[in-house]
Amino acid sequence: MDSIVINGGKELRGSVLISGAKNAVLPMMAASLLADGVTTISNVPNLRDTRTMASLIEVTGAQVQLDYPEISIDSSTVHTLEAPYELVKTMRASFYILGPLLGRFGKAKISLPGGCAWGPRPVDFHLKALEKMGASIRLEKGYVLAEAQTLRGCSIQFDFPSVGATGNIVMAAVRASGITEIKNAAMEPEIEQLCTMLNMMGAQIEGVGTPYLTINGVKQLSPIHISVIPDRIEAGTFLIAGALLGRVSIEKTTPTHLKALLEKLHSSGTQVDIDKDSITVSSPGHIKPADLTTAVYPGFPTDLQAQWIACMSTAGGSSVVTDTVYHDRFSHVPELNRLGANITIENNSAFVRGVKKLKGAHVMSTDIRASASLILGGLVAEGETTVSRVYHIDRGYEHIVNKFQSLGADIKRIQS
Ligand code: EPU
Repeated sequence: MDSIVINGGKELRGSVLISGAKNAVLPMMAASLLADGVTTISNVPNLRDTRTMASLIEVTGAQVQLDYPEISIDSSTVHTLEAPYELVKTMRASFYILGPLLGRFGKAKISLPGGCAWGPRPVDFHLKALEKMGASIRLEKGYVLAEAQTLRGCSIQFDFPSVGATGNIVMAAVRASGITEIKNAAMEPEIEQLCTMLNMMGAQIEGVGTPYLTINGVKQLSPIHISVIPDRIEAGTFLIAGALLGRVSIEKTTPTHLKALLEKLHSSGTQVDIDKDSITVSSPGHIKPADLTTAVYPGFPTDLQAQWIACMSTAGGSSVVTDTVYHDRFSHVPELNRLGANITIENNSAFVRGVKKLKGAHVMSTDIRASASLILGGLVAEGETTVSRVYHIDRGYEHIVNKFQSLGADIKRIQS
């Protein structure tokens, strides 16, 4: 298993190109199953998760050609309507193929994702909405067996604007008979891009980018070519690194997707300069503490909560970071404390008392964003930090070690 070794305290200077968004491309790859022909997607990040999604799509009989940063998927040969446990257990986003398979073929057998490192992550919204559309849903030996001769449009109100449930139901509804309305839909840019892609394929979705979607089902969707939006979470991670350690520009990004983070960076004393598709941050030297609460888009993303806590670890005072999306997503906290941070957890809040210095240590990553947080901690810490179990970071950050090296960080990947 590989590790990342960092000699911390080096100033970061320069610019990095932001890759395509993991959380946008995964549902887009699933959406290609709705079209009978070859869909091509460009600006696809070379990640473990995009490879997993490619393997999953191949299980169905579709043919996938991965030629990063482009991927083509020929869905004219689909014959197996199944997502096996072996793949779903490594990536929950596998569940995204339920909607398209059911929408196009009227049947799907998908392994239930189960929990994850930071607790339960249910899929009840997905299943309830599909049942309301007329699907019969059975659970058998850890699998969801869904069937529907015809999915019928109906009115769906989510209790919470779930990203995954919105994506799955939209992908089912584009092929349903009649009109589906989704109230309290997720508005994340990744869902907006999925809807834009589906409309390019011939779907009729109104309200794209708003919490109220109306979808008029169509008989057929056609394959298209589309480029993936920039990854706002990767972008945010590099901006936080710049705020801590020097002057960093990120290129090929969409500043409007990062508004909540940019406001927090500003409150922390960081200088932020925004251009059309680039952002430059300059560290204030000493970060000021800034409380935050995560929320659905356009609020502060839960996927940057762990990185913000790393940032607050050496701030000149105390801050409170609350996660309202995932109440127990704090597995990075005990590891940051191993680096000398002073953080306690109470319910869904982390109380971070800024310390003067972090000191290098051996730490272990537990999920994608926790890994990014530990890398940030290691970059700030004095001495050597080893982050183990880096397969988590490979799921969601393309060439992260090379990108940090290009900014002047002393960071390398080793086989251990
Ligand atoms: N929820 C339910 N029932 C459901 C679905 C969700 O109760 O049927 C709850 C969840 O337990 C959670 C909240 O709703 O408390 C939000 O979950 P959501 O469904 O929005 O999350 P997701 O679709 O499973 C995506 C991202 C996550 C990101 C969340 C929130 C992908 C592939 N994953 O997950 O990304 O944290 O939205 O923004 O898009 C990551 O990239 O590291 C990551 C975990």
